[in-house]
Amino acid sequence: MVNKITVVGAGNVGATTAQRIAEKELARSVVMVDIADGIPQGKGLDQWESAPIELFDSRVTGTTGYEATAGSDIVVITAGIPRKPGMSRDDLLNTNAGIVGSCAAEVAKTSPNAIIIVVSNPLDVMCYVAMKASGFPRERVIGMAGILDTARFRSFLAEALDVSVRDIQAMVLGGHGDTMVPLISYTSISGIPIRQFMTDEQLQVHVDRARNGGAEIVKFLKTGSAYYAPSSGAVQMVEAIVNDQKRILPCSAWLDGEYGMKGLFLGVPCKLGRTGLLQIVEIELTADEKAALAKSADAVREPMSVVKL
Ligand code: NAI
Ligand code: 2OP
Repeated sequence: MVNKITVVGAGNVGATTAQRIAEKELARSVVMVDIADGIPQGKGLDQWESAPIELFDSRVTGTTGYEATAGSDIVVITAGIPRKPGMSRDDLLNTNAGIVGSCAAEVAKTSPNAIIIVVSNPLDVMCYVAMKASGFPRERVIGMAGILDTARFRSFLAEALDVSVRDIQAMVLGGHGDTMVPLISYTSISGIPIRQFMTDEQLQVHVDRARNGGAEIVKFLKTGSAYYAPSSGAVQMVEAIVNDQKRILPCSAWLDGEYGMKGLFLGVPCKLGRTGLLQIVEIELTADEKAALAKSADAVREPMSVVKL
């Protein structure tokens, strides 16, 4: 357990993230910050009132200012506008860059030693904005997307093969967008290569569905985007950091030569521990996977080159 975790943005992803953090007792104090006066306070109080039933002692509160967040160990940034039907993640670019930039600057002032986990979209570019605005080193700015994309892929495979999600190992790398890269060569069921269970054509159906997983939910919800699985992804990262688990999870990290690339955030296998990003793990990729990762990096560089900082 750490002392304080702040969640910026008390909307669907933020509030669910705060609730999961409190229920797992990952921090003594969980603070939600949002500009919509009344929402963070009301949701925080409502969550705290569930404590005697759910049996957690993490104190959840909500606020519109950063004073109560001061000295946070971890800050999860979920502030921004979500996708509406027909919108791509990149449509959110400059609106969310303004929001994420201002939030990260506040975090740097009030919680200078925090580890920032970014969730706001477009994810990989928002990580860049948060790193620039906070001035934090790459070890302390990490993005959540690969865990979500991988969880979607794993859930589809579990359903199709009628096996436990627990036994499906997979990893989706690359940017959080249509060019994401599910690594078929590392997908297995209890260590047995996935190709022993499915043909490439069958696998492709699930790869495509994972790539469109966000849009599939937006189409159902109509007024917003997914938040249960995204908040689970963010909390898995929080838990790995709080408990110094040294987990290797697909996260967006600032590349400085790894995978032959420099100067951008991209989804890669990351070892997470108490100080944040401990290591980017470089694994062997097939020629096709390398090409797909390079294409995905181009899709991140394009919005990055026009984002207003
Ligand atoms: P939401 O609309 O439910 O909540 C966003 C909240 O941010 C609102 O309560 C709003 O008042 C608040 N906000 C806006 N400006 C703010 C500021 N300057 N300071 C503090 N709070 C501010 O949206 P939702 O569904 O929670 O999504 C949040 C973000 O997360 C979106 O950008 C969405 O696209 C992204 N997302 C990313 C995922 C990923 O895999 N990385 C998955 C799901 C969502
Ligand atoms: C998702 O993948 C919208 O990025 C969000 O659900």
